[in-house]
Amino acid sequence: MKKVKYPSLSQIEKDLLAEAEKMLTRAYNPYSHFHVGAAILTADNKIIGGANVENAAYGSSICAERSALLRANALGYRHFKKIAIITKAAKADTKDISAPCCSCRQMIYEFSQLAGEDIEIIMANTKKTKIMKAKISELLPLAFGPKDLGVNLKKYPLLSG
Ligand code: THU
Repeated sequence: MKKVKYPSLSQIEKDLLAEAEKMLTRAYNPYSHFHVGAAILTADNKIIGGANVENAAYGSSICAERSALLRANALGYRHFKKIAIITKAAKADTKDISAPCCSCRQMIYEFSQLAGEDIEIIMANTKKTKIMKAKISELLPLAFGPKDLGVNLKKYPLLSG
């Protein structure tokens, strides 16, 4: 886990954050008013975004990270290198960053096992004055995964990615 400065990011990481920022405007959040924008970088450098989509039955809501992952899968990508996340409070810009919830970590972990890629998570506040990077193995140590079920994911395709 490390703190990084915006100018030190690569161009593709800046593009990833720009897509996550755009996704903040796609948040459907009439209940929490909390915006989450996510953007995934696929193995072949495609960027795929997602936003949180809430529901009156709160438990039926979906986070931005999983929304982006499901969108990527539907578009034919399962091999991911990075995922950027920006969060925005109801009325103000956020000073701090937010890390993905545990359900999102679990889904990111699944794809990390499928592709053999320790996916990097880039978390930023709205003004990108605070940015943290962490690998999924750091955010979800001792994870429950395919190995616990004796499942070998090798026969599952990575699709276009
Ligand atoms: N949310 C995300 O989109 N990602 C997370 O990792 C944590 C929470 C969303 C879900 C809900 O729409 C709002 O933030 C408040 O929980």
